[in-house]
Amino acid sequence: MVAERKLRIGVLGCGQISQAAHFEACRKATNAELYAICDLAEDLVVKMAAIHEPSLTYTNFDAMVADPNVEAVIVGVADQFHVAMAQQALAAGKHVLVEKPLGVSIEECASLQSAVADSGLVLQVGTMKRFDPGIAFARKFIAEEMGEMLALKAWYCDSTYRYAMTDNLQPVVVSSSAARRPAGNPKADRELYYLLGHGSHLVDTARFLGGEIAALRARLVQKFDAYCWFVEVAFASGAVGHLDLTIAVRMDWHEGFQVYGEHGSVIGKTYNPWYFKSSDVECFSTRDDQYHRVLGADAHFYKLQVEGFADTILNGAPMRGANINDGTAAIRALVAIARSTDSGDWVRLDQVEGTIS
Ligand SMILES: NC(=O)c1ccc[n+]([C@@H]2O[C@H](COP(=O)([O-])OP(=O)(O)OC[C@H]3O[C@@H](n4cnc5c(N)ncnc54)[C@H](O)[C@@H]3O)[C@@H](O)[C@H]2O)c1
Repeated sequence: MVAERKLRIGVLGCGQISQAAHFEACRKATNAELYAICDLAEDLVVKMAAIHEPSLTYTNFDAMVADPNVEAVIVGVADQFHVAMAQQALAAGKHVLVEKPLGVSIEECASLQSAVADSGLVLQVGTMKRFDPGIAFARKFIAEEMGEMLALKAWYCDSTYRYAMTDNLQPVVVSSSAARRPAGNPKADRELYYLLGHGSHLVDTARFLGGEIAALRARLVQKFDAYCWFVEVAFASGAVGHLDLTIAVRMDWHEGFQVYGEHGSVIGKTYNPWYFKSSDVECFSTRDDQYHRVLGADAHFYKLQVEGFADTILNGAPMRGANINDGTAAIRALVAIARSTDSGDWVRLDQVEGTIS
């Protein structure tokens, strides 16, 4: 179904994630359009414009946010640039969908929190797994039927074979020597990169299903170029949790969750996101002694994420994605994991500050 009015989106960044997800998501969304694209790397802009045919192209973000026809911006640039770009977009009166993680320090996320509150605009964080129909189904069951939560386990284990799989699924990604990247190549620090890049998904899913995390204790084992974080979690509800972030396991992509509750339980298996396949989720309810599952035929998480974002802006629908507080809480959890890995102690999330490194 085509919406009466489409949100005019400008995408900042013509790199990997925009090429593989955001451009297509904006074009396929029923209630949004790919109005403009922007990158400092002109060659990328030209190539992406030829494929995706936005109405306008920009090589300067100042100019894109000065365009009164741009209603919302997707911030698809390196993590270190998220907060500054999101702040600039808000200051220009644009709604923002910012890639995960929200930022790289607790303080910069807090300053963005104030900017969002002052602006009255919509800011959503791009942890798109919330739009996985299976995970959304699990969340609804937990909220409406499962009763009190006893325990949650969640795991996110990348595979050593992931590029063999994803190279077949994604378009050929074009890169440019003119692309702007943060100084000092932050991806070279594997602990930082894995926590920000992958851990942000894990803690967001854990919070989406399990609620607020109060404290945690983490251990990191690093062997044969593999990093394994096991994290004990104390949820604010009093439930216990265990998170496993392993990059990378010597097998297929391995991601999922188990939740035990008062009137039922949930088991979920999540696929590598580039298959655009809904998680297999089974919710057992003691109400009817049966397992319940959803097909989730349309599982283009990035498209569904844009549609949800546009629905909030155009129609005032409740935000289904992660909001600014969720994004900030996820950074708190990641910083707490880093602190606890160093000290071996339990760390309260309301007491951490600074960055991961
Ligand atoms: N949600 C997901 O599943 C998922 C997956 C992959 C990456 N990501 C996130 O997406 C973000 C971007 O990752 P990427 O791999 O596409 O990065 P990238 O470095 O390949 O691309 C970013 C592009 O932004 C451009 N850019 C940076 N600053 C700019 C500025 N001020 N003005 C104009 N252009 C600018 C760069 O030139 C570059 O082309 C990261 O935060 C990453 O964590 C999310």
